[in-house]
Amino acid sequence: MNVSYTDMIATFGIGGAHPGGLSATKYIMDQLQLKPEEPILDVGCGTGQTLDYLAKNLPNPLFGVDQHQGMLTKAKKRLETHPTVTLKKANIENLPFTDNFFGFILSESVTAFTPIDQALQEYARTLKKNGTLILLEMTTNDILKQEQQAEIKQFYHIPKLLTEEMWCAAINQAGFQTVSAEVIPDKLENIIDFDLQTAISQEHFELMATHYQLTEKYKDLLSARLYYCKKE
Ligand SMILES: C[S@@+](CC[C@H](N)C(=O)[O-])C[C@H]1O[C@@H](n2cnc3c(N)ncnc32)[C@H](O)[C@@H]1O
Repeated sequence: MNVSYTDMIATFGIGGAHPGGLSATKYIMDQLQLKPEEPILDVGCGTGQTLDYLAKNLPNPLFGVDQHQGMLTKAKKRLETHPTVTLKKANIENLPFTDNFFGFILSESVTAFTPIDQALQEYARTLKKNGTLILLEMTTNDILKQEQQAEIKQFYHIPKLLTEEMWCAAINQAGFQTVSAEVIPDKLENIIDFDLQTAISQEHFELMATHYQLTEKYKDLLSARLYYCKKE
């Protein structure tokens, strides 16, 4: 079997698979003022922890997309009682929505896993004028050595590693005029949840262990940043 990091998260059914988990989501949402009619998109929604929180706290139409069937199946189960939530199986590089549709797009540890420039262009296309994009993404504190980059990219299947400066440049390039960045506060308790499959192979446990080893190994070189962006 050839299991990816994302397959491993889907098999454990991890909800809140981003630094800070639900605490980070609450931290982000507490800073926003959204009009109740504005549609919200959670890109790479995973097993739906964030959409569940949003559906319980906001009247807005909510949309989630993810390309991974295992994630979506668990998200559908979690969200079946929320009539305001629509889930779609889709690639972020080709979002199944019309131009200028969303008021807010949220990416929690997702865009770093995609062809970043294409994903940002899709966010810019589907967001309304004055719409908000918030990204919570893996960021390198400096340019890493080739072998360090290779180890991280290979394990997480990510195309490239960006510094904060590189993220801001890519976001600007995609058409967002206002960008500010913040290191996610340390004080946030990491709130995640699990929807476990009955049979979990040794390989999945090994991948989980490697993820924690890499997190520890690179803790001074990688951090999670929040990017606040406006389409003007
Ligand atoms: C680290 S998980 C985070 C999931 C969720 N945002 C959360 O915080 O729990 C990354 C998610 O992004 C999805 N994803 C990655 N690349 C994608 C793409 N190009 N199109 C759609 N979904 C993608 C994966 O399937 C996975 O569910």
